[in-house]
Amino acid sequence: MSKKILLKEEEIPENFYNIQADMPFDLEPPLHPGTKQPAGPQDLQKLFPMELIKQEVTKERYIKIPEEVRDAYRIYRPTPLVRAERLEKAIGTTCKIYFKNESVSPVGSHKLNTALAQAYYNMKEGITSLTTETGAGQWGSALSFACKVFNMKCKVYMVKCSYEQKPMRKSVMHLFGAEVIPSPSNQTDAGRKILKEFPDSSGSLGIAISEAVEEAVKSTDKHYALGSVLNHVLLHQTIIGQEAIRQLEKENLKADIIIGCVGGGSNFAGLAFPFLRDKLTKTGKHKNTRFIAVEPTACPSLTKGKYAYDFGDTIGLTPLLKMYTLGSNFMPSSIHAGGLRYHGMAPLICKLHEKGFIEAQAFNQLETFEAAKLFAETEGIIPAAESSHAIKAAIEEAKKNKDKVIVFNLSGHGFLDLSSYDAYLQGKLKDSTLSEEDLKKSLDRLPKI
Ligand SMILES: Cc1ncc(COP(=O)(O)O)c(C=O)c1O
Repeated sequence: MSKKILLKEEEIPENFYNIQADMPFDLEPPLHPGTKQPAGPQDLQKLFPMELIKQEVTKERYIKIPEEVRDAYRIYRPTPLVRAERLEKAIGTTCKIYFKNESVSPVGSHKLNTALAQAYYNMKEGITSLTTETGAGQWGSALSFACKVFNMKCKVYMVKCSYEQKPMRKSVMHLFGAEVIPSPSNQTDAGRKILKEFPDSSGSLGIAISEAVEEAVKSTDKHYALGSVLNHVLLHQTIIGQEAIRQLEKENLKADIIIGCVGGGSNFAGLAFPFLRDKLTKTGKHKNTRFIAVEPTACPSLTKGKYAYDFGDTIGLTPLLKMYTLGSNFMPSSIHAGGLRYHGMAPLICKLHEKGFIEAQAFNQLETFEAAKLFAETEGIIPAAESSHAIKAAIEEAKKNKDKVIVFNLSGHGFLDLSSYDAYLQGKLKDSTLSEEDLKKSLDRLPKI
């Protein structure tokens, strides 16, 4: 059996897979933030190109990947599917553990899969500049590079605590020519409002989104790009799962358990949705596969949130989405998995969780770092703090089960986040538990629909 299952460049998928074609139920529509009525394409046109707006709602099963985007994917795709046999040995399991290694992308994570597609569709519609937010810096780095590929400008509002804790990610974005602003900033009304109320605010993804959206809405040649949550972002990530299915087929394997960490849900969906098709249609090899979305206990939207309409940002500029949410004013504690500190979750994942197709689990920060250390010691790769949540879940499932094939997504590497590993090794990291009282306070402020 091979350690690494590899595909040829010609085997990069030719289409994105749209799970909405196979869901026997519909998503609730996004609502306009002002009128609270279903939002139409014209409400989104200030932010996104028409092609991406269409991708949000289409029921077509396959969307052809433009040749220019497929060509750019050749820089790092197909990514390897790797058997973590040394990890298996260390935990003494009879299960086979595989990981899809998305950390090999030049910016270090899966985020480039959608960044390239989004930059391309915007460029095609004459947009010359994109604004966005970034938490840990992975998404900002990906969009900065994608904008460089398609000759566009990029401006990134970076959550202030990450801007200060992770200066290296800032350097990466600068190298790709992006402008990086710590958020909250005094460049937007949204930022000024937050700074007036909380002058020492260390920022959050929700605030940074408000700033980036406001800047796009107020300009004529700029659009906004989001790195997760929306249907079109999850759609672009499905190249991960399509490759993984082909790779398993090469070894005559089927996956029994699929695992991914979830912040807004894109890397998990990208791996899971092409397999989930069998479960939805009750046919095929993967109709009985289990799907596990893993989140931090400090920001547990799927395991503790409420399934309700909420804003995607803090100020309330984005359309309202029906999702499991902790409340758009929720301030998660400063865990190192910055990309998992988001109050909401992709509506597609929420619907599939509500209908019982996807399980959810939550883990504490320290146990995920312990899992990351074991993975690094055995497989030699230092994982991103976000991906370590998937590793922890994979280890737990491998201990509980016998002879199963477990596949998890290694969404990114942690080379630019070694300070968090230092803190862990020096015993300085802490678990933080979310109090029921804080959660209730935040949920009480959900918009009334
Ligand atoms: C490496 C990595 N994994 C996972 C995530 C979480 O995002 P998503 O749930 O959209 O995959 C992020 C977000 O920044 C990330 O950088």
